[in-house]
Amino acid sequence: MRTFTEETLQLDHEKAEARRWISSLDAPFLSRLVRSQPPVPDARLTSSETARVKRQREFALGRRCAESLLKKLGNAEQVWTNSDRSPAWPQGFAGSISHSTNWTWAAVVEQSEALSVGVDTESIVTAETRDRVLFEIAADDEWKICKRFDLSAEQMFTLVFSAKEAFFKCCYPQVKQFFGFEHAVVDAIGPNSIRIATHPTHPRPDLMPNGLEVFYLVTQNDVLTATWLEAV
Ligand SMILES: CC(C)(COP(=O)(O)OP(=O)(O)OC[C@H]1O[C@@H](n2cnc3c(N)ncnc32)[C@H](O)[C@@H]1OP(=O)(O)O)[C@@H](O)C(=O)NCCC(=O)NCCS
Repeated sequence: MRTFTEETLQLDHEKAEARRWISSLDAPFLSRLVRSQPPVPDARLTSSETARVKRQREFALGRRCAESLLKKLGNAEQVWTNSDRSPAWPQGFAGSISHSTNWTWAAVVEQSEALSVGVDTESIVTAETRDRVLFEIAADDEWKICKRFDLSAEQMFTLVFSAKEAFFKCCYPQVKQFFGFEHAVVDAIGPNSIRIATHPTHPRPDLMPNGLEVFYLVTQNDVLTATWLEAV
């Protein structure tokens, strides 16, 4: 088992790696990546109370990151929440928020630069999780495309899952309708990006992009993905 210090050093290393990757993207958005706050164990809390406290803390941290980015872009408004639980960005701005065990990540853009943005971070899943939900996340044909010999099966699964979540977060504000994993399909994969296409059975293909390039970073513990819709 790794010591606390080893774990901290590993995460510091991954944070530097993630920041280098983000600045290499040439993305139109500003983003902020911070360590998620580890839960403070309190034996007096029930498991559902612990989950509620964790959720409040992650929500507050994500909003703090997003609002600090908005401030940098000259907007001092707060990011409220729509009734569908998506973030309500101030007029003229778009953005995206993601939380994983290790990271909280927010991205914000002026819509003159990009119509929408989607970011996601996921901890690498276990083999058991992968096996359980493999075909809920992508079909056989998609998994056949997903070959990268330097990634483990768990890393590849997490990458596809995260890329589809980033694609969803980027497209949702345009379509304002939920859609499933089967409506966003893997088209191609390269060393830096994975192409996600809209499936013809999508409920509103007319409002969707044909496909989006989702950029990715796979580290030892996590996957980060990011995509955006160009301004027209
Ligand atoms: C909303 C959803 C995309 C969040 O992704 P996740 O990996 O579970 O969790 P993350 O921490 O990365 O993201 C959560 C953030 O997404 C944002 N979010 C929630 N609903 C959203 C929506 N409809 N559109 C865009 N962003 C949304 C919120 O900012 C939320 O954080 P907050 O509540 O603290 O502000 C996911 O839970 C979901 O509901 N998916 C259903 C739709 C789907 O997955 N379709 C298939 C993919 S193609």
